[in-house]
Amino acid sequence: MSQKVDLVIFGGTGDLSTRKLLPALYQLQRHNLADRLDRIIATGRGEMDSASFIEEARNNLQTFLPDGTWDDAQWSAFSDRLEYVKVDADNAGDYTRLAELLAAGSAPGALYYLATLPSLYGEICRQLDAAGIVDDASRVVLEKPLGHDLESCQEINEQVAQVFAEEATFRIDHYLGKETVQNLLALRFGNQLFHPMWNNTFVSSVQITVAEEIGVAGRGSYYADTGALRDMVQNHLLQVLSLVAMEPPATLKATDIRDEKMKVLRSLEPITSANVKARTVRGRYAAGAVGGEAVKGFLEEDAFADADDTETFVALKANINNWRWAGVPFYLRTGKRLSRRYSEIVIEYRRQSFSLFANDPQELTNKLVIHLQPEESISLHTVNKKPGLTSKLKLQPVELHLTDESQNKGDSYDAYERLLLDAIHGDQTLFMRRDEVETAWRWIDSIIEAWEENSTPIKSYNAGTMGPTASTALMAVDGGSWHE
Ligand code: BG6
Repeated sequence: MSQKVDLVIFGGTGDLSTRKLLPALYQLQRHNLADRLDRIIATGRGEMDSASFIEEARNNLQTFLPDGTWDDAQWSAFSDRLEYVKVDADNAGDYTRLAELLAAGSAPGALYYLATLPSLYGEICRQLDAAGIVDDASRVVLEKPLGHDLESCQEINEQVAQVFAEEATFRIDHYLGKETVQNLLALRFGNQLFHPMWNNTFVSSVQITVAEEIGVAGRGSYYADTGALRDMVQNHLLQVLSLVAMEPPATLKATDIRDEKMKVLRSLEPITSANVKARTVRGRYAAGAVGGEAVKGFLEEDAFADADDTETFVALKANINNWRWAGVPFYLRTGKRLSRRYSEIVIEYRRQSFSLFANDPQELTNKLVIHLQPEESISLHTVNKKPGLTSKLKLQPVELHLTDESQNKGDSYDAYERLLLDAIHGDQTLFMRRDEVETAWRWIDSIIEAWEENSTPIKSYNAGTMGPTASTALMAVDGGSWHE
């Protein structure tokens, strides 16, 4: 897509647009990366003129932009791009107005960003088509959650596919836009050092943790019906897992990378009634303190008083049944109201079969620790000699940092900037293909079914801890422990 596009945001006055999309678009412009973008047309259900929307956008941007990035001249150019039009998802007349607005512009293509309830995606696509504003240059971006299970996901995908080809459909998982997640490709395939050791001969286990301090207040009924497994594991954690575990792609093109990720998802051993107890832990936070502040328990929040079958924490052990990873457990864990916000991947290497330092308390297993957030960094945990004139050679742990801090500072950007830029340019590499999302749902559905069949209990944990003790036990039975 080398021509200009108009971006139309459905849900343009919603939370995602306000907090993430508009700030990201402003930043793209500030970094001179928005030359392919023409107008930004926000749609919403409320009656409002463009001037009022622009005034609201200005206030919101000043709140949500990172410190030091507001600039009057940039805002002036950015606000010139903004328009607002009221669109009710099922009102054909509203789409006619949108069509007129698009026709009045000069961009040949439109990129439709659907950030509404996913149950409206099918109807919005149908109406766009009926209004004659979908052509070969049009694309659609779909926000998560894409369904609640495999069946509802397939239904949404089917409805969207009636109007947009797969090549024009961009399914967002914002974790794929994070810098360190993309860095996995460079780390794995750009370094001779790591590639030969990226397999079950050398690696003993892999951990992926996405820990959050925030709770779920303000998420209304969405979270009550969703829970941590659907909200985080189905998408973010499985996407990260597939990038860690995939085979080298034939090229860096979207199709080749997605083909390899897909093979990993298909190789995930199903978790069923037979093994669900040993392989998963569900948790829910009770009252506690996070960052020194007292917080309520999940069931004490008004919106969630009846949601006693919703987990806010999940830990599980996934096996990948293929040649590279057979016998290497992938431990995944995510939760709300944990002790601190951080996401990381830990590759733990096997111990040497014979060690000259077996009696040294500092003898350790090497680990490669990839931090995704809040800071982005990669470090290798090793040992070297403790300096000094001791009579015996002793070890000390050393963390080798593989990231260039000075480089990082200048380049930091939000995941949505990366993803919006790619969607504007028509690059699908960092978006999920239909078969990936559906295969991930198939695996998740089996866990949920097994939980139901077994009435798997939800274990309580105090807010401000790292989850229920059963999560520690999940690894301890294999002789391991979470990297804290
Ligand atoms: C979203 C989930 O997809 O990701 C939220 O719906 C979660 O529940 C969020 O808080 C986490 O994103 P990040 O980028 O802050 O780790």
